[in-house]
Amino acid sequence: MEPEVLSPADLPDLLALCRAAHWNQTEADWRRVLALEPELCLGIRAGGRIVSTAAAVTYSPAEGFPPLAWIGMVLTDPEHRGHGFARRLMTRLTATLDGRGFAVQKLDATSMGLPLYEQLGFLAEQPVERWQRDPSRKRIQASGVVEPFRCDAALDIPAFGWDRSRLLPSLLDAPGADAALTEGGFAMGRPGAIAAYFGPCAARSPLAAKRLANWFLARHHGEVVFWDLLPHNGEAQALARSLGFRPVRTLVRMVRRPPGVTEPPRRDEHIFAIAGFEFG
Ligand SMILES: CC(C)(COP(=O)(O)OP(=O)(O)OC[C@H]1O[C@@H](n2cnc3c(N)ncnc32)[C@H](O)[C@@H]1OP(=O)(O)O)[C@@H](O)C(=O)NCCC(=O)NCCS
Repeated sequence: MEPEVLSPADLPDLLALCRAAHWNQTEADWRRVLALEPELCLGIRAGGRIVSTAAAVTYSPAEGFPPLAWIGMVLTDPEHRGHGFARRLMTRLTATLDGRGFAVQKLDATSMGLPLYEQLGFLAEQPVERWQRDPSRKRIQASGVVEPFRCDAALDIPAFGWDRSRLLPSLLDAPGADAALTEGGFAMGRPGAIAAYFGPCAARSPLAAKRLANWFLARHHGEVVFWDLLPHNGEAQALARSLGFRPVRTLVRMVRRPPGVTEPPRRDEHIFAIAGFEFG
């Protein structure tokens, strides 16, 4: 059972895996990953269906720094776990990325995935938290926000450290996805299988982030909402709490890079919501 490159024909299997694991990803989410990096979406087939996956998206570097690969969708069907499938896929994927010059590789690890990633040379960088807001009757008013979205690279590249301008527009591909700009920030949102997803949100100030979060909640106040954030950004936590969110899960952001490779500077204090565990 060797890793193979996935294709859109595998979507029914990929969605079945997500539903069995109670993941929030939708068909549009898998389609996006397949479209962004078709050769970096790997799976293992057993009994005629894909039972294990791992995929990567990539980001261009700021001048003088290495490019970044972000690994996600690492998932094995519950009945096929413990047979070395995730190890085989991750070994193949990291070797492919090494060969293509992706000297920095990152991912957001669950406690189930973490031991494997450690064995493959990933080191903990910082925690990542999922916050959840339950449906509320309280109406939230949006103000100071304009649409449509335009990628603010002058904000996003220094904040994230790499260029996400290929990913960000693709997040609007999903039916029901939306995005907005305000002075000093932008935010995007997309539907999920379990909850509406708020993120990414990059903002130069908590006030700008608050306007953007209010914009999203005004549209989704009657739904469960997920918001994944970096707890090192205490302002993001405080804002999420003030808007009725509570932390429900902690993952570990991990990085794999050879000694001597340096990462570009980034500004976590401007990242109010990440783009997704599968995107960074
Ligand atoms: C994490 C996950 C992808 C591992 O998939 P898998 O195909 O079972 O993994 P492998 O068989 O290759 O095992 C890799 C490592 O996972 C751990 N592992 C696998 N099965 C395990 C089990 N039954 N109990 C505890 N740890 C287990 C071990 O550390 C193992 O390393 P080892 O071979 O040295 O013991 C799978 O458990 C899963 O889909 N979990 C839910 C989704 C998730 O958390 N994904 C990770 C996102 S970052």
